[in-house]
Amino acid sequence: MLKLRSPAKINLFLRVMGKRSDGYHDLASLFQAIDLADTLTFELSREDEFSCSVPNLSLDGSNLVIKALQLFRQKTELPFRVKIHLEKHIPMQAGMGGGSSNAATTLWALNALHNFPFSDYELQDWSSSLGSDVPFFFANGTAYCTGRGETVRPLAPLTLPENLSWFKPREGLSTPAVFKALDLSLCSKIDPEELLEAFYSQKFQFINDLQEPAFRLLPILRTYQQELLAKGWSDASMTGSGTAFFGTGGADQIVPLQRLPLAWY
Ligand code: C5P
Repeated sequence: MLKLRSPAKINLFLRVMGKRSDGYHDLASLFQAIDLADTLTFELSREDEFSCSVPNLSLDGSNLVIKALQLFRQKTELPFRVKIHLEKHIPMQAGMGGGSSNAATTLWALNALHNFPFSDYELQDWSSSLGSDVPFFFANGTAYCTGRGETVRPLAPLTLPENLSWFKPREGLSTPAVFKALDLSLCSKIDPEELLEAFYSQKFQFINDLQEPAFRLLPILRTYQQELLAKGWSDASMTGSGTAFFGTGGADQIVPLQRLPLAWY
Protein backbone atom coordinates (compact mmCIF):
# COMPACT_ATOMS: atom_id res chain seq x y z
CA MET A 1 0.00 0.00 0.00
CA LEU A 2 1.19 3.49 -0.83
CA LYS A 3 0.11 6.44 1.34
CA LEU A 4 0.96 9.88 -0.02
CA ARG A 5 0.39 13.49 0.93
CA SER A 6 -1.14 15.57 -1.84
CA PRO A 7 -0.31 19.21 -1.04
CA ALA A 8 -2.17 22.45 -1.71
CA LYS A 9 -0.73 25.52 -3.43
CA ILE A 10 -1.13 29.24 -3.23
CA ASN A 11 -0.58 31.74 -6.03
CA LEU A 12 1.74 34.37 -4.53
CA PHE A 13 0.84 36.50 -7.51
CA LEU A 14 -1.34 35.81 -10.54
CA ARG A 15 -1.36 38.04 -13.59
CA VAL A 16 -3.76 37.38 -16.49
CA MET A 17 -1.92 38.42 -19.64
CA GLY A 18 -4.68 38.02 -22.22
CA LYS A 19 -7.39 35.81 -23.71
CA ARG A 20 -6.40 33.11 -26.19
CA SER A 21 -8.18 31.84 -29.26
CA ASP A 22 -8.73 28.42 -27.56
CA GLY A 23 -10.84 30.06 -24.84
CA TYR A 24 -8.15 29.84 -22.15
CA HIS A 25 -6.23 32.79 -20.72
CA ASP A 26 -2.48 33.28 -20.73
CA LEU A 27 -1.26 33.54 -17.17
CA ALA A 28 1.95 34.49 -15.39
CA SER A 29 1.85 33.26 -11.83
CA LEU A 30 4.18 32.44 -8.95
CA PHE A 31 3.04 29.15 -7.41
CA GLN A 32 4.08 27.90 -3.99
CA ALA A 33 3.22 24.45 -2.58
CA ILE A 34 2.22 24.48 1.09
CA ASP A 35 2.07 21.84 3.79
CA LEU A 36 -1.74 21.71 3.94
CA ALA A 37 -2.40 18.38 2.25
CA ASP A 38 -4.94 15.69 1.42
CA THR A 39 -3.90 12.07 1.93
CA LEU A 40 -4.27 9.49 -0.83
CA THR A 41 -3.80 5.76 -0.37
CA PHE A 42 -3.33 3.35 -3.27
CA GLU A 43 -3.37 -0.44 -3.31
CA LEU A 44 -3.30 -2.83 -6.27
CA SER A 45 -6.43 -4.94 -5.95
CA ARG A 46 -8.87 -7.30 -7.70
CA GLU A 47 -11.36 -4.53 -8.44
CA ASP A 48 -11.19 -0.78 -8.97
CA GLU A 49 -12.54 1.03 -5.91
CA PHE A 50 -12.55 4.72 -5.07
CA SER A 51 -13.68 6.18 -1.75
CA CYS A 52 -13.44 9.58 -0.17
CA SER A 53 -13.69 10.97 3.38
CA VAL A 54 -16.18 13.69 2.41
CA PRO A 55 -19.68 12.90 1.13
CA ASN A 56 -20.13 15.88 -1.22
CA LEU A 57 -17.42 14.92 -3.70
CA SER A 58 -18.37 13.03 -6.84
CA LEU A 59 -16.63 9.67 -7.18
CA ASP A 60 -17.30 9.26 -10.91
CA GLY A 61 -15.34 10.18 -14.03
CA SER A 62 -15.68 13.89 -13.23
CA ASN A 63 -13.30 13.47 -10.27
CA LEU A 64 -9.71 14.35 -11.14
CA VAL A 65 -8.43 11.22 -9.37
CA ILE A 66 -10.47 9.06 -11.73
CA LYS A 67 -9.48 11.21 -14.72
CA ALA A 68 -5.82 10.70 -13.77
CA LEU A 69 -6.36 6.94 -13.44
CA GLN A 70 -7.99 6.84 -16.88
CA LEU A 71 -5.18 8.91 -18.40
CA PHE A 72 -2.51 6.64 -16.87
CA ARG A 73 -4.26 3.55 -18.30
CA GLN A 74 -4.62 5.17 -21.71
CA LYS A 75 -0.95 6.25 -21.87
CA THR A 76 0.62 3.10 -20.43
CA GLU A 77 -1.82 0.32 -21.44
CA LEU A 78 -0.84 -1.44 -18.18
CA PRO A 79 -3.47 -3.95 -16.97
CA PHE A 80 -4.21 -3.42 -13.28
CA ARG A 81 -6.98 -2.74 -10.76
CA VAL A 82 -6.49 -0.33 -7.91
CA LYS A 83 -8.17 0.69 -4.66
CA ILE A 84 -7.86 4.43 -3.95
CA HIS A 85 -8.94 6.32 -0.83
CA LEU A 86 -8.89 10.12 -0.63
CA GLU A 87 -8.87 11.88 2.73
CA LYS A 88 -9.78 15.50 2.05
CA HIS A 89 -8.26 18.34 4.07
CA ILE A 90 -7.72 20.97 1.36
CA PRO A 91 -10.88 23.08 1.04
CA MET A 92 -12.72 22.78 -2.27
CA GLN A 93 -13.54 25.72 -4.57
CA ALA A 94 -10.75 27.54 -2.78
CA GLY A 95 -8.13 28.20 -5.48
CA MET A 96 -5.72 26.01 -3.52
CA GLY A 97 -5.31 23.38 -6.24
CA GLY A 98 -6.70 20.43 -4.27
CA GLY A 99 -8.15 18.54 -7.24
CA SER A 100 -5.12 19.27 -9.44
CA SER A 101 -2.77 18.08 -6.71
CA ASN A 102 -4.81 14.88 -6.28
CA ALA A 103 -4.53 14.24 -10.03
CA ALA A 104 -0.74 14.69 -9.98
CA THR A 105 -0.38 12.49 -6.90
CA THR A 106 -2.49 9.78 -8.55
CA LEU A 107 -0.31 9.72 -11.69
CA TRP A 108 2.83 9.57 -9.57
CA ALA A 109 1.44 6.83 -7.29
CA LEU A 110 0.28 4.59 -10.17
CA ASN A 111 3.74 4.92 -11.72
CA ALA A 112 5.31 4.09 -8.33
CA LEU A 113 3.10 1.00 -7.92
CA HIS A 114 4.56 -0.26 -11.22
CA ASN A 115 8.18 0.47 -10.23
CA PHE A 116 8.51 3.78 -12.06
CA PRO A 117 8.42 2.78 -15.75
CA PHE A 118 7.92 6.45 -16.68
CA SER A 119 9.84 9.54 -15.62
CA ASP A 120 8.33 12.39 -13.59
CA TYR A 121 8.94 14.51 -16.66
CA GLU A 122 6.69 12.25 -18.78
CA LEU A 123 3.98 12.23 -16.11
CA GLN A 124 4.19 16.02 -15.90
CA ASP A 125 3.86 16.29 -19.66
CA TRP A 126 0.77 14.04 -19.73
CA SER A 127 -0.77 15.83 -16.75
CA SER A 128 -1.46 19.13 -18.53
CA SER A 129 -4.43 17.50 -20.29
CA LEU A 130 -6.05 17.00 -16.85
CA GLY A 131 -5.94 20.69 -15.94
CA SER A 132 -3.77 23.77 -16.26
CA ASP A 133 -2.53 23.61 -12.64
CA VAL A 134 -1.62 19.91 -12.56
CA PRO A 135 1.96 20.06 -14.02
CA PHE A 136 3.03 22.46 -11.22
CA PHE A 137 2.75 19.61 -8.70
CA PHE A 138 5.66 17.85 -10.42
CA ALA A 139 7.91 20.88 -9.82
CA ASN A 140 10.00 21.44 -6.72
CA GLY A 141 7.59 23.51 -4.60
CA THR A 142 8.16 27.00 -6.01
CA ALA A 143 7.58 27.69 -9.70
CA TYR A 144 6.77 30.44 -12.16
CA CYS A 145 3.95 29.18 -14.37
CA THR A 146 2.95 30.65 -17.73
CA GLY A 147 0.86 29.67 -20.75
CA ARG A 148 -2.45 28.26 -19.42
CA GLY A 149 -0.46 27.69 -16.23
CA GLU A 150 0.99 24.42 -17.51
CA THR A 151 4.40 25.80 -18.55
CA VAL A 152 6.37 25.38 -15.33
CA ARG A 153 9.68 27.07 -14.56
CA PRO A 154 10.97 25.60 -11.28
CA LEU A 155 12.58 28.18 -9.00
CA ALA A 156 14.83 28.26 -5.96
CA PRO A 157 13.06 28.24 -2.58
CA LEU A 158 11.67 31.63 -1.57
CA THR A 159 11.94 33.24 1.83
CA LEU A 160 8.35 34.20 2.52
CA PRO A 161 7.04 36.61 5.16
CA GLU A 162 6.70 35.04 8.60
CA ASN A 163 3.22 34.25 9.93
CA LEU A 164 1.73 33.61 6.51
CA SER A 165 -1.67 32.01 6.98
CA TRP A 166 -4.80 31.15 5.03
CA PHE A 167 -8.55 31.55 5.47
CA LYS A 168 -11.31 29.90 3.42
CA PRO A 169 -14.79 31.47 3.53
CA ARG A 170 -17.80 29.15 3.50
CA GLU A 171 -18.69 30.27 -0.02
CA GLY A 172 -16.82 28.76 -2.97
CA LEU A 173 -16.34 29.74 -6.61
CA SER A 174 -15.87 27.72 -9.77
CA THR A 175 -12.80 28.56 -11.86
CA PRO A 176 -14.57 28.87 -15.27
CA ALA A 177 -17.14 31.28 -13.77
CA VAL A 178 -14.39 33.55 -12.44
CA PHE A 179 -12.51 33.61 -15.77
CA LYS A 180 -15.80 34.35 -17.52
CA ALA A 181 -16.42 37.36 -15.26
CA LEU A 182 -12.93 38.75 -15.88
CA ASP A 183 -12.65 42.20 -17.49
CA LEU A 184 -9.17 42.30 -19.03
CA SER A 185 -9.10 46.11 -19.01
CA LEU A 186 -9.18 46.01 -15.19
CA CYS A 187 -6.11 43.76 -14.84
CA SER A 188 -2.88 45.04 -13.34
CA LYS A 189 -0.36 46.37 -15.87
CA ILE A 190 2.70 45.38 -13.86
CA ASP A 191 5.29 43.19 -15.61
CA PRO A 192 5.13 39.73 -13.97
CA GLU A 193 8.89 39.18 -14.43
CA GLU A 194 9.43 42.35 -12.35
CA LEU A 195 7.03 41.05 -9.71
CA LEU A 196 8.96 37.78 -9.67
CA GLU A 197 12.32 39.51 -9.21
CA ALA A 198 10.87 41.64 -6.43
CA PHE A 199 9.75 38.51 -4.54
CA TYR A 200 13.36 37.31 -4.51
CA SER A 201 14.40 40.69 -3.03
CA GLN A 202 11.85 40.31 -0.24
CA LYS A 203 9.46 42.85 -1.82
CA PHE A 204 6.12 41.09 -1.83
CA GLN A 205 3.22 42.31 -3.95
CA PHE A 206 0.39 39.80 -3.71
CA ILE A 207 -1.40 40.83 -6.93
CA ASN A 208 -4.15 38.57 -8.26
CA ASP A 209 -6.05 39.62 -11.40
CA LEU A 210 -8.79 37.07 -10.63
CA GLN A 211 -9.68 38.76 -7.35
CA GLU A 212 -11.76 41.53 -8.91
CA PRO A 213 -14.03 39.18 -10.96
CA ALA A 214 -14.34 36.89 -7.93
CA PHE A 215 -15.47 39.84 -5.78
CA ARG A 216 -17.95 40.84 -8.49
CA LEU A 217 -19.45 37.32 -8.50
CA LEU A 218 -19.50 37.11 -4.71
CA PRO A 219 -19.45 40.63 -3.19
CA ILE A 220 -19.30 39.21 0.35
CA LEU A 221 -15.67 38.25 -0.37
CA ARG A 222 -14.74 41.93 -0.17
CA THR A 223 -16.33 42.09 3.29
CA TYR A 224 -14.33 39.02 4.39
CA GLN A 225 -11.15 40.65 3.11
CA GLN A 226 -11.90 43.86 5.02
CA GLU A 227 -12.63 41.83 8.16
CA LEU A 228 -9.27 40.03 7.89
CA LEU A 229 -7.46 43.36 7.54
CA ALA A 230 -9.43 44.81 10.47
CA LYS A 231 -8.38 41.77 12.54
CA GLY A 232 -4.74 42.72 12.00
CA TRP A 233 -3.80 40.81 8.86
CA SER A 234 -1.27 43.00 7.04
CA ASP A 235 -2.32 41.54 3.68
CA ALA A 236 -5.22 39.38 2.55
CA SER A 237 -4.94 38.29 -1.05
CA MET A 238 -6.99 35.70 -2.87
CA THR A 239 -5.27 32.61 -4.24
CA GLY A 240 -6.09 31.33 -7.75
CA SER A 241 -9.75 31.86 -8.65
CA GLY A 242 -10.69 31.91 -4.94
CA THR A 243 -12.26 31.89 -2.54
CA ALA A 244 -9.42 31.31 -0.06
CA PHE A 245 -7.29 34.21 1.15
CA PHE A 246 -3.75 34.21 2.39
CA GLY A 247 -1.80 36.89 4.22
CA THR A 248 0.18 37.61 7.33
CA GLY A 249 -1.44 37.46 10.73
CA GLY A 250 -4.01 34.64 10.92
CA ALA A 251 -4.15 31.39 12.86
CA ASP A 252 -3.94 28.69 10.14
CA GLN A 253 -0.24 28.89 9.41
CA ILE A 254 1.20 28.29 5.94
CA VAL A 255 4.46 26.37 5.75
CA PRO A 256 6.00 26.37 2.27
CA LEU A 257 6.92 22.95 0.88
CA GLN A 258 9.94 22.25 -1.29
CA ARG A 259 11.12 19.29 -3.30
CA LEU A 260 7.87 17.96 -4.73
CA PRO A 261 7.07 15.20 -5.44
CA LEU A 262 9.37 13.87 -2.70
CA ALA A 263 7.39 15.89 -0.16
CA TRP A 264 4.45 13.61 -0.87
CA TYR A 265 5.84 10.83 1.31
O1 C5P B 1 -7.38 23.96 -17.02
P1 C5P B 1 -8.58 23.82 -16.15
O2 C5P B 1 -9.43 22.64 -16.50
O3 C5P B 1 -8.25 23.85 -14.69
O4 C5P B 1 -9.44 25.10 -16.42
C1 C5P B 1 -10.78 25.23 -16.02
C2 C5P B 1 -11.40 26.40 -16.74
O5 C5P B 1 -10.83 27.63 -16.28
C3 C5P B 1 -11.18 26.42 -18.25
O6 C5P B 1 -12.17 25.68 -18.90
C4 C5P B 1 -11.26 27.88 -18.57
O7 C5P B 1 -12.61 28.32 -18.61
C5 C5P B 1 -10.64 28.54 -17.34
N1 C5P B 1 -9.20 28.81 -17.51
C6 C5P B 1 -8.79 29.84 -18.34
N2 C5P B 1 -7.45 30.08 -18.50
C7 C5P B 1 -6.53 29.35 -17.83
C8 C5P B 1 -6.93 28.32 -16.98
C9 C5P B 1 -8.28 28.07 -16.84
O8 C5P B 1 -9.61 30.53 -18.95
N3 C5P B 1 -5.25 29.64 -17.99
